[in-house]
Amino acid sequence: MDDIRKRLEQLAEEFQKDIAGAASLAGINELRVSYLGKKGHLTGILRGMGQLDPAQRPLVGQLANEVRQTLETDLQKAAERLGRLEQAEKLRQEELDVTRPGLKTTVGGRHPLTLVIDEICNIFIGLGYSVAEGPEIEYDRYNFELLRLPQGHPARDEQDTFYITDHILLRTQTSPVQIRVMQEQKPPIKIVCPGRVYRSDTVDATHSPVFHQIEGLVVDEGVTMGDLVGSLQLFSRQLFGKETRIRLRPHHFPFTEPSCEVDISCWSCQGKGCRTCKLEGWIEVLGAGMVHPEVLENCGIDSARYSGFAFGIGVERTAMGRFGIDDIRNFYENDIRFLSQFR
Ligand code: DAH
Repeated sequence: MDDIRKRLEQLAEEFQKDIAGAASLAGINELRVSYLGKKGHLTGILRGMGQLDPAQRPLVGQLANEVRQTLETDLQKAAERLGRLEQAEKLRQEELDVTRPGLKTTVGGRHPLTLVIDEICNIFIGLGYSVAEGPEIEYDRYNFELLRLPQGHPARDEQDTFYITDHILLRTQTSPVQIRVMQEQKPPIKIVCPGRVYRSDTVDATHSPVFHQIEGLVVDEGVTMGDLVGSLQLFSRQLFGKETRIRLRPHHFPFTEPSCEVDISCWSCQGKGCRTCKLEGWIEVLGAGMVHPEVLENCGIDSARYSGFAFGIGVERTAMGRFGIDDIRNFYENDIRFLSQFR
């Protein structure tokens, strides 16, 4: 009897030490389990009750109940106190000062070349064209040969480029996409293809070894030069304003016959002659022509039945005109002061 009483008193004392040291709600719960749980200290001591004199059992039982009561009350109080502390700490950590200035996010804008490419493609999409794509690393065959520029052809000189092997190069024009499209699709074909092209050129205000073109190709039965002129007229008016006129000058491209260079009336002076057009009144923006029958045949298209026109637009030149930019290098230097003007 005395033994159990002593053990209960000891238990109460130890509990006071433990609970004084408990620093969190989780710690309190551990204490509750270790003292009052099914396998806890109190249950352990009470197991010894069986050996007691039956007369003494109620006394010990009462003492045990008092101890349990105290433990429970103390645990409850400690839990409440720590709960309040933890809540306060949580609130402190989650404090949100809605008056603080926000974090500044800088929103980028599209590059002026992208703007012009999108604008041009959208005009042609409006005329029923789809957008095609081709690789920048291209076969010599597609970039030159099938476009009627065989090895040794003098026109290759103007389009020297980086050769990866004897047969693979960085494309010098978007025209090889014509070949790729015609090999895969049968007429009617109506596509534009924007893309980056490469030429061995020294950088100056109007030249860059990397630049952009937009290729156009239309193949169907009965397509004529009249269709080409009409399409380019519509396109120029949409891009540069409805007063814009176009002018075709005879030219030579190996993959078109006949071929022409196309000028548009100067966007600055409407053709009167000014600095932008070097007093000419006209600005060259693209090359075009009727697809050479041999090129159609090279792609398995019957040139007796089908005909087509093609054109290649210089994106940089067009963008320089559109935005009044006088040096091509601005496009590639990524100077934020330049780029942020096109938001
Ligand atoms: N590929 C030519 C160049 O880079 C431009 C060109 C001319 C494309 C006439 C065409 C075309 O599709 O018909 O100079």
